[in-house]
Amino acid sequence: MEKYKDKNVDIEERIDDLLARMTVEEKVGQMLQVSYNVLSKEDYEKYKKLGIGSFLHVLGDEADDIRKKASETRLGIPPLFGIDAIHGHCLLNGATVFPSQLAMSCSFNRGLIKEMGRATAKEVCADGLDWTFSPVLCIARDLRWGRVDETFGEDSYVIGELGQAIIDGYECDNLIIACAKHYIAYGEATGGRDAYDSPITERKIREVFLPPFKKAADIGCGSMMTAYGSIDALPLTANRRILREILKDEIGFKGFVVTDWENVRSLVTKQHAAKDLAEASLKAVEAGNDMSMNTHEFYECMLSLVRDKKIYMSLIDNAVRRILRAKFRLGLFDNKERPNRSVIGCEGHKNINHELAQESLVLLKNENVLPLGGDTKTIAVIGPNADDIRAQYGDWTFFSHPEPKKDVEPLGDYYTVLGGMREVFGEKHILYEKGCDIYGEENNIDKAVKTAKKADAVVCVIGDCLAQNGEYRDRANLDLSGNQMELIKRLVGTQKKVIAVLVNCKPLCISYLKENCDAVIEMFNGGDFGGLAVAELIAGKFNPSGKLSISFPQYGAQTPCYYNQYDGWHGGQYVDLQKGNVYDFGDGLSYSEFVYSNLKLSKKTASKDDIIEISVDVTNRGSMDGKETVMLFVNDVVSTILTPTMELKGFEKVFIKSGDTKTVTLKLDIKDLAIVTPDLKYVVESGEFEIMVGRNTKEYLKEILTVK
Ligand code: NOJ
Repeated sequence: MEKYKDKNVDIEERIDDLLARMTVEEKVGQMLQVSYNVLSKEDYEKYKKLGIGSFLHVLGDEADDIRKKASETRLGIPPLFGIDAIHGHCLLNGATVFPSQLAMSCSFNRGLIKEMGRATAKEVCADGLDWTFSPVLCIARDLRWGRVDETFGEDSYVIGELGQAIIDGYECDNLIIACAKHYIAYGEATGGRDAYDSPITERKIREVFLPPFKKAADIGCGSMMTAYGSIDALPLTANRRILREILKDEIGFKGFVVTDWENVRSLVTKQHAAKDLAEASLKAVEAGNDMSMNTHEFYECMLSLVRDKKIYMSLIDNAVRRILRAKFRLGLFDNKERPNRSVIGCEGHKNINHELAQESLVLLKNENVLPLGGDTKTIAVIGPNADDIRAQYGDWTFFSHPEPKKDVEPLGDYYTVLGGMREVFGEKHILYEKGCDIYGEENNIDKAVKTAKKADAVVCVIGDCLAQNGEYRDRANLDLSGNQMELIKRLVGTQKKVIAVLVNCKPLCISYLKENCDAVIEMFNGGDFGGLAVAELIAGKFNPSGKLSISFPQYGAQTPCYYNQYDGWHGGQYVDLQKGNVYDFGDGLSYSEFVYSNLKLSKKTASKDDIIEISVDVTNRGSMDGKETVMLFVNDVVSTILTPTMELKGFEKVFIKSGDTKTVTLKLDIKDLAIVTPDLKYVVESGEFEIMVGRNTKEYLKEILTVK
């Protein structure tokens, strides 16, 4: 009896049964992921018949065709279809395009992010696919890096929490699996350059970069992806310590590890760490990679390694076991029922998207100008990003992947800021002029100024564009590019109320906006509803609640400027800059005033295995109901190694009605106060800890906790 075909049998038994029947060729086939869009027709036909473990970047009907061919192979093992559904299933035109990870992280809303993940899973699965290469758990500390937009920001704790929320959303219905990536410290590459060496130690990895991946493993994340780069000169693809020993053996990660794009080939061609592809394949599998993405020769190389007895079969069996586990878990062997395709871009998902877009906006400045009052009859919407949905979507949509498509129109509903303003304020109240481009020579600023002069208020939408966003798109200069500075200065010169809206993939240098505009709104890449949400915020239709998950420097060379750095002892100030950032992690205004009082610790003296409760009263003194994210920071007052002056250890987003007070309680596990010692031990040191609870890194109440 073929147990692997019987869904009533335990998954591990089904895997044992199937593994026992598989030939070496079938096993090695499972370890290959073939990239659909780079194959010749001939190769494509060949791989379809070979019984390959996984395909990537296949959509809908093609997946059905490949699945059918796989079912005709000897054992009929179904392939796993992977896709970069990073902020929605956006490689498919017509699917819901959610805000980017960076944008949504500013919502600090775990529940909503879980719903976003769940909706994405339904759309991916309905399209016949099984696996999203998301979430990105990289830490965005170097703002020059091109992929900042794909992250949940600069803070390891936030990334771990929101990572768990989105993975839970992706996986809770068993429709698809998630892929936590890029393991590990990819964002920390030298000079903020994509896929360079990250010159850091294992201690630093354990302190900052590992915790989000550990949280992903703890929640049962189905897969993880090995980063392109290297850590302290050792390529990650060949890094047995980082992959096998820490991730699999120590943390106990049960899913499988896929390499990033062509990592096995790069070991030979770019990193010069293997003499040929066979050696590279051996190193990759020994290190702990279970599946190779898009180095198709891996298949032949692995077979030759087996023939030459250069690789242990147990390594292959273990890799295949992990891959099969995902397939069984998703029900791929059991005539899986998929959601109807009508869920793709459906109303329910639009509602989640709209809410998330609203909560992701960060109101950075408001000099008594917003919400715009009834006396504002005419509004000039100006700027290169006012009506550019490509810039607003950001990277990883059908516009840019798998290959760039310039001239397609989105099939689903979407609102740029111009569209949103017309919808909310009525077309006849809105004037529009682009003014200039993000890059390049276009300069219609005179016309834009003329238009602004006809209006009562100006909404100026600036930022960056797709050419400045993503892999290979690192920036040395974080200023507003092209003629945007001239545009904004001329608009400010009209003496009209100027509301600056940023549509961008990362923090830019915006001191001028902070000093001279009446209001500043940060959208980042807001998805389908970003523009509508901005208009609704301007009209006061909801109370803004987003806070920055990432800090904004005054000047590009000030990066890194993240909040939880170690304190320096020579003042830490550049002679040619004022101290501090333009905006810090945690900044974000509301239309309400939230007042904190009554900070209490359930214990003022705790032991090392305690979990204590920290409570605070938050009063909404405004006239609008609103949401507030309460942040808990700690400072280890005296420690044997340097520790940050403040570090986030908890947050909770709460809804508080106008005039009401809510008591918010956060838990603090004393184990989470551990430092990582130079000999790699996790130690909670006795002594005093400052406990700070408040709105952000500057406005908080403080108590002292003693740990014995
Ligand atoms: C390379 C990127 O680094 C990774 O994030 C992505 O998932 C793969 N390509 C597949 O597209």
